[in-house]
This record gives sequence, structure tokens and C-alpha cells, in this order.
Amino acid sequence: MSGRTIRLDRLLANLGYGSRRQISLLARAGRIRLDGEIFPDVEQRIVLDPGLAARFSLNGEELDPLPGVVLMMNKPPGVTCSRKETGPLVFSLLPDRWRRRDPAISTVGRLDKDTSGLLLLTDDGALLHKIISPRFSTPKTYRATLDRPLRGDEAQIFAAGTLMLEGEDKKLLPAHLEALDEHTALLTLHEGRYHQVRRMFAAVGNHVTALHRVSIGGLALPDDLAPGEFSVLDAEAIARIFASGTP
Ligand code: URA
Repeated sequence: MSGRTIRLDRLLANLGYGSRRQISLLARAGRIRLDGEIFPDVEQRIVLDPGLAARFSLNGEELDPLPGVVLMMNKPPGVTCSRKETGPLVFSLLPDRWRRRDPAISTVGRLDKDTSGLLLLTDDGALLHKIISPRFSTPKTYRATLDRPLRGDEAQIFAAGTLMLEGEDKKLLPAHLEALDEHTALLTLHEGRYHQVRRMFAAVGNHVTALHRVSIGGLALPDDLAPGEFSVLDAEAIARIFASGTP
């Protein structure tokens, strides 16, 4: 992102603050400041660097994160990642203005409506593809709550790399199961097929009653991020997504 320049009015319009005309009116009213000083010239090109958002203010508030933003959300159950499903979208949990950004913020992969936990969102298409690309096989760990007690052979079956899900003709990659108690397990996958965790437990005669994603790569959902809340990731947290091993 560093080094790219953009007209300030274009940047602010792309961040959803209004039309370029509305932004020029804001500037004329002295509502845009850089380092505390009124910044009247919205036609000026500015360098898009990550520290810039903190230096600008608009109507007395720090600027929204610049393009290239990555968000970590604690998705609550009942909200959807897809317009094809009924119910409120995860985007409704973002501030209104953030939903008018261009490029738009999208989810990095999807979680089922009933699944909760770590969901990444970004406007950075290249990063999104890197996270979901099979080439990087970023591990994703889920905590599954089960209807019936674990039998004891699930870890071996899932690790074998021979399990075939109903209706599919390609074996699943080996997955790692760690039992937490009789009815709860952590399951780490290196791929993301449709309803994969629920279907894997169905394949061993069980039923998932609650599903929560706890981590993606080396990035874990922090305990202090309440359901429905999100935070903006810094470069170090983004790098952790690609760090191998468990968080
Ligand atoms: N597996 C599922 O079954 N559901 C999800 O949302 C994610 C993984």
C-alpha cells in the first residue's frame, strides 16, 4: 500500500464519507484536519500509508481504516455470511459507513449461519485469496459440541485421510481432533468444504449441536472480543494468520 497516492476527496468518498461534493463542503467548513490543522485542499494527492488514518480527523474523529483493512469478528450464531441465506448479514454488525466502502469489505470464506467464532473480513482481494487458497492450506480450528459422547476412534478416522463425505468423490485431507471432554472436541482442518465439520461428525454417527471457530492459522479469537464485536488487525496479527502451528 505504501507509496500509492490518491486525491483526498477520492479517498474519503471511497471510505463512505459521502460524495466528493459533500466532502469538499466538509473541507470548506473546516471539518477536515491533518495533525490538528485545518486541511482545506481535498484535491491534493496524499500518500496512502498505514499511519495516515491516525493523523487525519474528520468532524473531530479519527479517519476510518484505510483500504487494505483486515477485521477479525466474533461472529454470533444467527447472522449469515451470504445473501443467499435468510437473516441479518454479518455486514450489518459493521458501522453504516463501512458498508459503503469501495473496495467493499467481504468475508474471508464463510461460516454457517449457526456457527459462531472467528471470521475475517477484508477489502484486500489478494490477501483474501491467499488465506483461502489451498496452496497455503491455512489451518482452521473449530470447537464442536456434540450430541452424543465421543466413541474414541474419531481422531484416528479423521487423521487417516481416507474419509469420504456423503455425496463426494474426493477423500478429505487428514484432520486433527483433540477431545476436550466426552461431548466437546477441537477439530483442525486444512481445507474448507461445505458444512465440513458437521458432515464429518455425521459420518461417524454423531451430531454437532454447537460449532465455534477458535483460530485461523496462528491467529486465535481473543476472549475479550464479545459476540458481534470486531477489531482491526495490525500487520503483526495479519502475519500470524500465516504462521504455522497452533496459536
Ligand atoms: N464446518 C461447518 O460445518 N460449518 C462451518 O461454518 C465451518 C466449518
